Amino acid sequence: MAQLAKPNPNNSSADAMMDPPCDVVIFGTGEMAEVARFYLQWEGTHNIVAHTLNREYLNETSKDGLPVVAWEDLNTLYPPDQVKLFCPVSYKEVNLHRKRLFLEGLDKGYDFIRFIHPYARYYGTPVGRNTFIFEDNVIQPHTVIGDNCILWSGNHIGHHTTIRDHCFIASHVVVSGAVDIGERCFLGVNSTIRDNISLGEGCVVGAGALVTRALDDLTIIVGAKSRIMPKTSDQLDGI
Ligand SMILES: CC(C)(COP(=O)(O)OP(=O)(O)OC[C@H]1O[C@@H](n2cnc3c(N)ncnc32)[C@H](O)[C@@H]1OP(=O)(O)O)[C@@H](O)C(=O)NCCC(=O)NCCS
Repeated sequence: MAQLAKPNPNNSSADAMMDPPCDVVIFGTGEMAEVARFYLQWEGTHNIVAHTLNREYLNETSKDGLPVVAWEDLNTLYPPDQVKLFCPVSYKEVNLHRKRLFLEGLDKGYDFIRFIHPYARYYGTPVGRNTFIFEDNVIQPHTVIGDNCILWSGNHIGHHTTIRDHCFIASHVVVSGAVDIGERCFLGVNSTIRDNISLGEGCVVGAGALVTRALDDLTIIVGAKSRIMPKTSDQLDGI
């Protein structure tokens, strides 16, 4: 789980990146890798030295002027004491693919950077390794975000929420306060999670879904049907 806590009241670019500048190898050469490289280069705080891919997918030796090397050869060509990794792999197999690569990278002896966009708003949130947080995320106090997560742009993460390792949170998701999101969950665009509930491991929340109850491991939930309740608003005690 996440270890790093650094107060960031002003969200300056340098603070937002949190990790000191270093040489970085990016896993992948596809769209996700291109997006990640764009952000890292735009913010200019890390030096990207190469891309890496599993040998069986290696069909180019360079990409945009950078070497592309086999994952299997990485320790020889770019040893762990010289570079860190960034593995911005998508949500394939409900994030299991990215989880495996992250664990393999750790096994090979590498550390990972994390990227938090300078226009994300957060307050000393502990954020794990290889976690990628895009612009316009609002992350309220007392939240914890684990290793190897991706928070695409524009989410609201309510106070006292825990996002466990290997999650993918698409755009414009509202996570209310004190939610516990299990490992490897996928939260689709525009979904809403009510406060004080927990989602088990590997849940998939469909685009636009409204989640009002705890979910068991591996649940898929879709739909946001609205209905008029039998009581009136003066009978509510929770709002
Ligand atoms: C939930 C989800 C994973 C289901 O995928 P799937 O199993 O391939 O679903 P299908 O496309 O086969 O649809 C099956 C049925 O569920 C419905 N359905 C699928 N997703 C739905 C959703 N989010 N809300 C409501 N209904 C949905 C479909 O309309 C279809 O209904 P039908 O049988 O009456 O026609 C997917 O639809 C989804 O919401 N993905 C998230 C997309 C997203 O947020 N992407 C962001 C990436 S950055």
